[in-house]
Amino acid sequence: MSEFKNITLEKKGAVCVITLNRPEKLNALDRATLRELGEAFDEVEGDEALHAVVVTGAGPKAFAAGADITEIAGLGAEAGKAFALYGQGLFRRIERFLKPVVAAVNGFALGGGCELAMACHVRLASETAWFGQPEINLGIIPGYGGTQRLSRLAGRAAALEMLLTGDRVSAARAREIGLVNAVFAQEKLMGEALSLAEKLAAKAPLAAAYCIEAVAYGSDMPLEEACYYEATLFGLACATEDKKEGTAAFLEKRAARFKGR
Ligand code: COA
Repeated sequence: MSEFKNITLEKKGAVCVITLNRPEKLNALDRATLRELGEAFDEVEGDEALHAVVVTGAGPKAFAAGADITEIAGLGAEAGKAFALYGQGLFRRIERFLKPVVAAVNGFALGGGCELAMACHVRLASETAWFGQPEINLGIIPGYGGTQRLSRLAGRAAALEMLLTGDRVSAARAREIGLVNAVFAQEKLMGEALSLAEKLAAKAPLAAAYCIEAVAYGSDMPLEEACYYEATLFGLACATEDKKEGTAAFLEKRAARFKGR
């Protein structure tokens, strides 16, 4: 297993937990942390025993309080664009990651932290979580996909309100606008995230990957092309051993045993 400084990666059976681990800086996403996050996803991708990921933050206060403002302070136009493209590339990779990724948002998810959570496939939050894109208060805008994912997840009105005011919204409000899937008491969050990840990890892995691909790529296509793409993935799923097993298990009234083939 790789050695990380700013994150931890813990494997528990078919699930792994990636924890952003700079609690003294509220898990702010500096370059080193983003690089390690990418390396962690490389490791998970290459580990055939792992079938789902939970991403969370260390400490009681934050999931991640944003990109590291000390790094943003010195950026000019070219460096700023490169900074944004780097984070966007990583978050796009997470969005397209072919094993389900659950964000367990345990506190502040601001700026890049909110953008990271939005790139995950499912978001669970603690009652103590706060979401926001406060970049406007720094004279900038979100650069890791926040303007796009927030408006797609929560709708333009809620997104523009958050982007233009920079105000944080509570977990309850985030649930209301579709930014998170479910909210739990702080002490229950990790248990819920792990049990969801275990549930997702037990599904047919190729079918899970095709669902993610259909949504991650298809959502950006016109409906007709997206549905055609879905049909192609459906065809691929029909050719898997797991489809044979899943349909047979249903007809034989027994639990399916999926192998990822
Ligand atoms: N980048 C770099 N450092 C950050 C950070 C960020 N995005 N967010 C918090 N920190 C650091 C603080 O500078 C502080 O470091 P210090 O102890 O060396 O001074 C430490 O984390 C603790 O933060 P602090 O502000 O003292 O905690 P708080 O509980 O008073 O406030 C927040 C919490 C989240 C409201 C506040 O930290 C904040 O507004 N952070 C920035 C949020 C933001 O604008 N994110 C978007 C960035 S593009």
